[in-house]
Amino acid sequence: MQVDTIQKTYRRWAPVYDLAFGRITQGGRILAARHVNATGGSVLEVGIGTGLALGYYSPKIQVTGIDVSAEMLRGAEARAAKLGLRNLSGLHQMDARAIDLPDASFDHVAAMHIMSVVPEPERVLDEMVRLCRPGGSVLIANHFAGRVEGWSLAVRMAAPLADFLGWHADFAIDRVLGHPGLMLEESRQVRPFGLMTFLRFRRVD
Ligand SMILES: C[S@@+](CC[C@H](N)C(=O)[O-])C[C@H]1O[C@@H](n2cnc3c(N)ncnc32)[C@H](O)[C@@H]1O
Repeated sequence: MQVDTIQKTYRRWAPVYDLAFGRITQGGRILAARHVNATGGSVLEVGIGTGLALGYYSPKIQVTGIDVSAEMLRGAEARAAKLGLRNLSGLHQMDARAIDLPDASFDHVAAMHIMSVVPEPERVLDEMVRLCRPGGSVLIANHFAGRVEGWSLAVRMAAPLADFLGWHADFAIDRVLGHPGLMLEESRQVRPFGLMTFLRFRRVD
């Protein structure tokens, strides 16, 4: 999916995104925020969307978000204002494939439900590794193809709808595994029905 298609798709989803997808995808965000809160420091959320994880971070965590969709970012701004957050360092409209922020500037870099949306996930992962300090964590929550028995037919049916839905239902986990700058420390299926997977990597030198 090209960036202009993504922007068009998420302009349409933005007003109803929380209602349509908030609940089903919440497990991964909770696990990511729990890890960030337990270890402390700063987090960059790549493709932060409407900021559904914002309320889960401890006030001690400095949070920065980037997203390519102005409408989704407006949702995140509204949520931050409603929650009265004082730990939001910035929300920026940027492409996750070329993030204009300095190397190693975050303790944690998270991508929740975005890897199967972006046009070049390998480039996004390179950016996440670049922005994470050595020893920090890279966190990914996503739906991956073939992880849950019985869903393959639904996934095959959804595949041609990628532009409309805004993500690729048949996204393979291998595309985010094996990066030389990352060591996998945790992989687990997330509720509901184990449909989503949470991956936690350590950034190695
Ligand atoms: C399924 S939503 C997930 C939003 C949020 N992370 C969450 O968990 O609710 C995917 C998000 O990725 C954003 N996105 C897609 N491609 C992007 C890109 N190339 N750069 C930055 N953000 C992108 C979309 O605008 C959208 O907000």
